[in-house]
Amino acid sequence: MTNPSAVNSFSTTSTIHLLGAGSLGLLIACRLQQARQNISLIGRDQQAVEKFSKSGVLFENSRYLFPSFTAENIKKNSIRRLIICLKTWQTLPAIKPLINALADNAQIILIQNGMGIIEQLGDLIRQQKPEISLFHALSTHGAWKENVWKESACKNNTNQQFTVHQAGTGEIRIDANCQSSWITAFTQANLNPQTDSDIKLAAWKKLLINCCINGLTAIANCQNGQLAVNLHLKQITQQLIDECLTLSNKIYPELATQPIADLIWQVINQTAANYSSTHQDHQANRLSEIDAINGYLLDIAKTVQLSLPVNQTIYRLIKSAEAASV
Ligand SMILES: NC(=O)c1ccc[n+]([C@@H]2O[C@H](COP(=O)([O-])OP(=O)(O)OC[C@H]3O[C@@H](n4cnc5c(N)ncnc54)[C@H](OP(=O)(O)O)[C@@H]3O)[C@@H](O)[C@H]2O)c1
Repeated sequence: MTNPSAVNSFSTTSTIHLLGAGSLGLLIACRLQQARQNISLIGRDQQAVEKFSKSGVLFENSRYLFPSFTAENIKKNSIRRLIICLKTWQTLPAIKPLINALADNAQIILIQNGMGIIEQLGDLIRQQKPEISLFHALSTHGAWKENVWKESACKNNTNQQFTVHQAGTGEIRIDANCQSSWITAFTQANLNPQTDSDIKLAAWKKLLINCCINGLTAIANCQNGQLAVNLHLKQITQQLIDECLTLSNKIYPELATQPIADLIWQVINQTAANYSSTHQDHQANRLSEIDAINGYLLDIAKTVQLSLPVNQTIYRLIKSAEAASV
């Protein structure tokens, strides 16, 4: 995913655009602005742009205003550094109208859970802009957003303001090949970047953890810790782990040397009180990222003629619920 010729070609003062100004994206945007980076947001529509630039975002008792654009009104070739913080299924439709706005040697960081999107994103962008460099990053910072309706003095001028909360402090694990200016920016913003020389391996580990926790906690409507406490859920979790290990050992030898089962149980215990993102999406009747979690695993399993019946069942149950409710 690296384009070595672009390394360090932009100064640390080049504006960073952010696409996906939701929970995690706004947390990152506010932290970067605190660290005096120039941040511009790309909103879904003019209404979103007005909110970000006029009402602003509340974070840690301060209000942050951001210059903001829509895909329609942003200038051609103007995006030189871009952070994408979208849900997996939002990514390709959101980037398509922005490709003309990307500079020919733009640098892009995709901060996202799930797998499979970075390759599709790379293929899509590089058809038109082959020099662009694209890096994957994984975040363990927790963030949530609430919309607060603010009545202004003028009766008809009711506007919505976002408040962003940091739910947990984590790290941003980022491809070690990315330009050092990103690491500097994230460090100054207290986002705790950790470079990883094998980000694909890190992403696979996260994928296997998510495959064993997310869908099952959504279906069972429980916190992560129940998977280790409730005997029935524990058995299903062990079956999911066994399937994940059978596949990963077959297709990814580097993973076979890692204590993945221990890692998954450790994460379940460490996050015992948390609700997974798939659980939260499921409860809110939102589309989840299951296609890029168990769905991705099942696609890979198909290529090596392996069947993963428990993963398949979890995937189908989530998809059927989403089809009925979204
Ligand atoms: N939140 C966390 O704590 C957390 C932690 C670790 C990893 N992650 C990962 O980070 C990624 C983002 O998660 P999130 O929780 O931040 O999701 P989110 O709150 O749903 O944010 C996504 C944002 O993207 C916006 N968006 C969607 N399509 C767009 C478009 N075409 N143009 C402009 N904006 C668009 C959405 O706007 P609308 O609201 O208008 O749809 C929304 O504000 C996911 O992969 C997630 O798994 C999140």
